[in-house]
Amino acid sequence: MTQRLTLSPQNPDPELIRQAAAVIQRRGLVAFPTETVYGLGANALAADAVEKIFRAKGRPANDPLIVHLASLADVKRVAADISPVVEKLAAAFCPGPLTFVLPKQPFVPLTVTAGLETVAVRIPSHPIALALIRASGVPIAAPSANRFGHTSPTTAQHVWDDLHGRVDLILDGGATSIGVESTVLDVSRETPTILRPGGISREDIERVIGEVALRDNRPSAENESQISPGLLGKHYTPKAELFFCVGEKAQALEKLRELAHQARTQGRRVGLLLAQDDLPSFEDCVPYALGASDDLQSIARNLYAGMRALDDQGADIILARDFGKRGLGLALYDRLLRAASQVIEV
Ligand code: TXA
Ligand code: MG
Repeated sequence: MTQRLTLSPQNPDPELIRQAAAVIQRRGLVAFPTETVYGLGANALAADAVEKIFRAKGRPANDPLIVHLASLADVKRVAADISPVVEKLAAAFCPGPLTFVLPKQPFVPLTVTAGLETVAVRIPSHPIALALIRASGVPIAAPSANRFGHTSPTTAQHVWDDLHGRVDLILDGGATSIGVESTVLDVSRETPTILRPGGISREDIERVIGEVALRDNRPSAENESQISPGLLGKHYTPKAELFFCVGEKAQALEKLRELAHQARTQGRRVGLLLAQDDLPSFEDCVPYALGASDDLQSIARNLYAGMRALDDQGADIILARDFGKRGLGLALYDRLLRAASQVIEV
């Protein structure tokens, strides 16, 4: 049985938080909102609790989890070698959607890190997430609260749809504000490297610490063996086949209109996952407006909800385009690339 509690996202009721913390303390699973997406949390220091996360999601054991903490002081308890680079970035962006990969302290279970000697740590800024971590009194391991490979949840209903009956409690704090996951930055190596672009942009990070590297997450024989599954290959996928068109806006839209026409003549239902201003030039499709094409924050906030909404409306295929690689555009590009059944460069 999965219980569901509704909380104010700004001022969560301490009594409800206490109930949720009690579930974490007795090694249960609690889904909760963060500013990025909903997480599926368990006591990070209890290997048996962490194993339940993998079982509930159907997640392979070789895909490590992020450990959520309430302060940098707490980060220092689970991770080692906190360098000046981390201190600077934490001062600029934490709490917030930035995850650090650091050498782990010995007592962090290998179940959490999938056998790695590094641990991913993040201080979320969402008041419900922070209150839950503090009240639980333990670090909380939490991947996104979706079935493995599926689109990440940005509402409690999304979590319910994927995981009801498989988790103890879902805290409903409304829709999340950022909508894509945190940026994962590996600071355990000489050149800090973005493993997954996300809520904090590459440009923002580089303004604080200078140039960083960006790992190529595209699937390849070489990558497959080295990179954890969450970072590559098909992931974040809706049920419909997603066609992702990459290139200059006018040409991309032209190509998508062609694809829409073809699909409709084959009797397929076509969903559009596009900017508001892209939609008027399409006919007889199921539109989902992500936001204005120059408002990447809205587009990010609505991306996953849009994929789920188009699935719910019975789209056979979903058409999408890229929004450049600057700022949040890079995270959008990364997620759409990995949600795609087909990538078309124009
Ligand atoms: O915004 C977020 O980061 C959300 C919320 C809930 O905090 N969490 C999230 O978790 O997206 P998850 O498990 O879906 O993605 C975590 C990513 C995975 O791609 C995993 O491979 C990577 O972080 N990761 C975790 N630990 C790592 C490590 N030690 N080394 C390299 N990558 C790691
Ligand atoms: Mg995930």
